[in-house]
Amino acid sequence: MVQGSANWNTELSQEWLQNYVDDWVSFYRKHTSDGKVASYIPILAEANQDHLGITILGKNGMAIRSGDVDIPFTLQSISKIISFIVGCVERGIAYMLDRVDVEPAGEAFNSIMHLEMKQLKKPFNPLINAGAITVTSILEGETSEEKIGPILDLLEKMLGYRPKINKEVYLSEKLSSTRNKAIGYYLLETNFLESELDVTLDTYFKQCSIEITVDDLARIGMILANDGVNPDTQEEIIPRQEARISKALMLTCGMYDASGKFATYVGIPAKSGVSGGIIAAAPPRVREEELPFLEGCGIGVYGPALDDKGNSIAGIRLLRHIAKQWDLSIF
Ligand code: DON
Repeated sequence: MVQGSANWNTELSQEWLQNYVDDWVSFYRKHTSDGKVASYIPILAEANQDHLGITILGKNGMAIRSGDVDIPFTLQSISKIISFIVGCVERGIAYMLDRVDVEPAGEAFNSIMHLEMKQLKKPFNPLINAGAITVTSILEGETSEEKIGPILDLLEKMLGYRPKINKEVYLSEKLSSTRNKAIGYYLLETNFLESELDVTLDTYFKQCSIEITVDDLARIGMILANDGVNPDTQEEIIPRQEARISKALMLTCGMYDASGKFATYVGIPAKSGVSGGIIAAAPPRVREEELPFLEGCGIGVYGPALDDKGNSIAGIRLLRHIAKQWDLSIF
């Protein structure tokens, strides 16, 4: 049985928290067999179904790392947050939100149906593929190298190193992306795109193929949790308004058509990717009792076995457990 409620007043030391999280990770690792690794991008099918890792990062370097924390994986849909922020900074929030809405779609991430059936004036939100591809087309630059540059710049500023694009994943996606091409052609035909289709799709495949670890996701999550500021240096890395809109989008649309359930049962802004990553941003909270990470934390999870919505199956269950134990919900 997984270790349950604790008296956090006496058990807040890093060592205690580490023991609890180790216990929870080994419990939820068994749940990986309930999911399946993604295979529609052929190389993603090579991931190890049993992997599960988590990093939780708070202020002053307080970090809990447990399980398979050193396995690199690609951002996939988590990159949609970064490209949205970059696009808002480059063009202005009003320009961006004139072209992409902020409403949950209630459909699969790669659905095209609503765009056509409802004759939308703009894609539902920047976190589904139609919206994300539109955002990528809005980014400044004529080539995919020019467009991806500021995405990598922002990541470098947050992570302290420049992440690389995993070429194998990029090529695997580029060669197998009939659905994204279909979405792209639809967006082109309906005048949503602001750059050449090929350049837009190429940039989108590159941003999805940026390689990171759970430590990196936790660091980005921590900055988002603090409204764009690194709480250790007080440096503003993401403008406050962009950070706050991103968290609203993560909460309402970040887990695709399971976002409502995630908000209800976990209650933390989060975004998943099809390679099995989840980023979560738990803002500082006020509680009468002592609880872990009261000053907020960023969480990175990796678990490539996915549920039928495309979210890490063990990752979601682990996050739900931690959020409940530590009262991390924003509600
Ligand atoms: O558009 C795609 O197919 C991927 N590169 C990204 C999708 C993704 O991560 C969706 N996740 N749950």
